[in-house]
Amino acid sequence: MDELRLAGAKAAGIWADHLGGVAERPVWRPVPEGELAWLTGQELPQTGRALDDLLEDTRAHVLPYPMGNGHPRFFGWVNSPPNPAGVLVEPLAAALNPSCAGGDHAGPHLERTVVRWLAGLVGFPHPPGGGLLTSGASMATVICLAAARQRAALADGWDVREEGLSGRAPLVMYVTGEGHSCLHKAAQLLGLGARYVRTVPVDAVYRMDVGALRTMIGEDVAAGLRPFCVAGSAGTVNSGAVDPLDEIADVAAAHGLWFHVDGAYGALGVLADGAAPHYAGMERADSLALDPHKWLGVPVGCGCALLRDPGAARAAFSLVPSYLVDENAGELGWFAEYGPEQTRPFRALKTWATLSHLGRAGVKELVEHTAALARELGAMVERAPDFELLAPVTTSITAFRHVPRAGGLDALNRAIPGAVQARGNAFLTGTRLGGRDALRACFLHPETTRADLEVLLDEIRVAAKSL
Ligand SMILES: Cc1ncc(COP(=O)(O)O)c(C=O)c1O
Repeated sequence: MDELRLAGAKAAGIWADHLGGVAERPVWRPVPEGELAWLTGQELPQTGRALDDLLEDTRAHVLPYPMGNGHPRFFGWVNSPPNPAGVLVEPLAAALNPSCAGGDHAGPHLERTVVRWLAGLVGFPHPPGGGLLTSGASMATVICLAAARQRAALADGWDVREEGLSGRAPLVMYVTGEGHSCLHKAAQLLGLGARYVRTVPVDAVYRMDVGALRTMIGEDVAAGLRPFCVAGSAGTVNSGAVDPLDEIADVAAAHGLWFHVDGAYGALGVLADGAAPHYAGMERADSLALDPHKWLGVPVGCGCALLRDPGAARAAFSLVPSYLVDENAGELGWFAEYGPEQTRPFRALKTWATLSHLGRAGVKELVEHTAALARELGAMVERAPDFELLAPVTTSITAFRHVPRAGGLDALNRAIPGAVQARGNAFLTGTRLGGRDALRACFLHPETTRADLEVLLDEIRVAAKSL
């Protein structure tokens, strides 16, 4: 253990140096060929190597080539820097190395607290056992939609786990074209069929058109289909739009649909001053996906599924063979009964540490700071004649495009993200919004400043000239 103690002390220095120096290095750079050969072509060593050697290799060949999300000028997708408290305790979770499937040890007990805290932060009802941590929102969505599917089937007098889906009226789900791809993946995985995932139109600001939702449900019922779920977004990945959740909740209630909200990225936005009205109705959902590894900065991966009725997820997943029976599990049983994972990592420790380190006030401050940056970039874009704002800013995402000339704007804006990334001074990604190629900047880093916004716009201008 002396070797581990020495190497561990050295590792602490390496990660502190790494995190401390992020802002001075390029946001991102391509992996050079020689390093690529090292990363991809190594042979498994015949005999084991010393811990110190592994640290040196990591320092030399891994740390210099990050994805970029630790940097204050990383604005791509929805990827945050790691919260230092999360980084600090992650090796301790590995040192304990439990499976948080269930049982009487620290991991599952702490998970109960963390899930309760997350529900409390965003104002979601929290019955005992009302949620679990997952690898991310994609898995949280699988759990929520599986619960929805099982509830719909049981309500109609059959059991999808026993019978499968064949021979039954197709179950139909509703989501806008702005809904995240994980909703489609989950629906496909659950055998619902992509054609039964209806694309509900959006209004001018990319929110679900609830009138159209009503019409579509009516048409599907008339056609003998079985509408069972509507998924709203609390912060879309394209523009950060929040669907009219209260109205969607009304429609779901009127038609007996499961109401799922994808708040993976944006649910915490409810904490920003003045934001609550946008989120009205989120608390009425049957399930909410919320990712601690996004806005909160919990080291990847940690998602969370929050459930109004935890029994619905248990009905969809519980399968306890004799070798897993635990007489002392209590009423809630094991976490493994509420989702597909059996061996579950100790995600709660890094989430508990991050939340405790920030405190409620710190979470609110982080949300306010990053949301203000998105609004500020929106205002700068509106003032600049060579930029155009493409959507109102509701969370911490600004969707815009560069318009330095009259024609060829789609091709130009499609090429800009790669060109900006290659320069290494800022990192943003693109999308299509309202039929146009767009740029989007997502703010999640507590150390991003207003000066960084100027750098971003200048980098876009310079990169565009090179295209
Ligand atoms: C709005 C939204 N929903 C769902 C997801 C999927 O989450 P995960 O990547 O954690 O599975 C993302 C990921 O960026 C997202 O932004």
